[in-house]
Amino acid sequence: MSTRPKSATAPSEEIVRKHREYLWPAVTNYYREPLVADHASMQYVWDIEGNKYLDFFGGILTIGVGHCNPKITSKIKAQVDKLQHTSTLYPNEAIVALAEKLAQITPGRLQKSFFTSSGTEANEAAILLARMAGSSYDVVALRHAYSGSSALAKGVTAQAAWRKGGVISVGIAHAVNPYCYRCPLHLKYPDCGVACASDVENLIQTGTSGSIAAFIAEPIQGVGGFITPPPEYFKIVYRIVKNYGGLFISDEVQTGFGRTGKKWFGIEQWEVTPDIITCAKSMANGVPVGATVTTADLADKFQGLTISTFGGNPVTSVAARAVIEVIEEDDLLENAQAVGSYFRKRLEELQEKYLVIGDVRGMGMMQGLELVRDRKTKEAAPAETTELMERARANGLLIGKGGLYANVIRLAPPLNISKADVDEAIRLLDRSLSEVRL
Ligand SMILES: Cc1ncc(COP(=O)(O)O)c(C=O)c1O
Repeated sequence: MSTRPKSATAPSEEIVRKHREYLWPAVTNYYREPLVADHASMQYVWDIEGNKYLDFFGGILTIGVGHCNPKITSKIKAQVDKLQHTSTLYPNEAIVALAEKLAQITPGRLQKSFFTSSGTEANEAAILLARMAGSSYDVVALRHAYSGSSALAKGVTAQAAWRKGGVISVGIAHAVNPYCYRCPLHLKYPDCGVACASDVENLIQTGTSGSIAAFIAEPIQGVGGFITPPPEYFKIVYRIVKNYGGLFISDEVQTGFGRTGKKWFGIEQWEVTPDIITCAKSMANGVPVGATVTTADLADKFQGLTISTFGGNPVTSVAARAVIEVIEEDDLLENAQAVGSYFRKRLEELQEKYLVIGDVRGMGMMQGLELVRDRKTKEAAPAETTELMERARANGLLIGKGGLYANVIRLAPPLNISKADVDEAIRLLDRSLSEVRL
């Protein structure tokens, strides 16, 4: 499909003009001519000119079970008419039902939830709790991380573009990340002995007070460009973190709720049970909710009071619970695994065909393509990445971008797509790649 030509009075032009006039420019849009979204259904989005797109980015990994999935929206609509907001000053059926469900699907003894409205707040709460629970203030995070937009979350974030304005990161130290394609230690897996994991210990000994409140990481770095650690990585880091008194926080804002296939949470793929899990994004399929889930013992250690006014409001709680139920009823953990593996195989076929694809990585419905100008030097190809996004959009496929060097294509379709959707996405990607000037 090609984008239809627009008339001089295309409705999108007025909206884009107003966007530029009334919104902060830092809130960036994709594409030379931004796509004005009009409506969506399951794996498809339509723009205001009526063009239809297969959506493989889902509002930045937020549409986990399909746009406007009627199994979710019907429950949201009913709840809006019944009870919309009372704050957590009054318990309600929806919030406890969601919390109970989360206790069932999270690993280990994670049992108690604190609800917020975003991933940023979920991470804030996790770090705050870790600092209250032990005697250390120090936190270890990973380079290339993205944790959110608050002051503390920006301190954890480790990409320059997201750290402007004098970020205060007292008590936060960053270890090298397990970026095998561009190993920060210039080693090669598996001969490296996963030396990047040992760097966490050296960092604690040299860059902190010698004990830590917590280690926080995304199982697969999202904004960082779907950087996927080797199988041993988190087990090694977990042991180090425990030796130095820290809690292990798994930021599942992108990897949560089945995204990586087979398991509810990404960290389970590495067979590590974290002390705290944070989630948001696809947790409620587009309704703003975040959660910080921990053990009963740790939840007891939170000092004083806390609240997030909209956190766990009945409408958002109903939406999140409905998402869990759809994943269970439609067997989407299995689907994400099976269709995700097929997707990966098809992407590797594209890698054989196009030299520009230097690396294919990720898990399940979270697959990344790192684009390079030269496979030997691995020179990043950001212009080609932007061009590929433009071509894909023109051909009817929505994809995302990420990575410190802006050269990683991020692909994250809903968990309930079929192999036929993958075939269509691959056909459109293939066509788009063939149109990119390399
Ligand atoms: C891994 C991760 N953590 C936290 C956040 C922050 O979430 P939010 O934008 O909902 O505050 C994001 C957002 O992209 C994220 O990708």
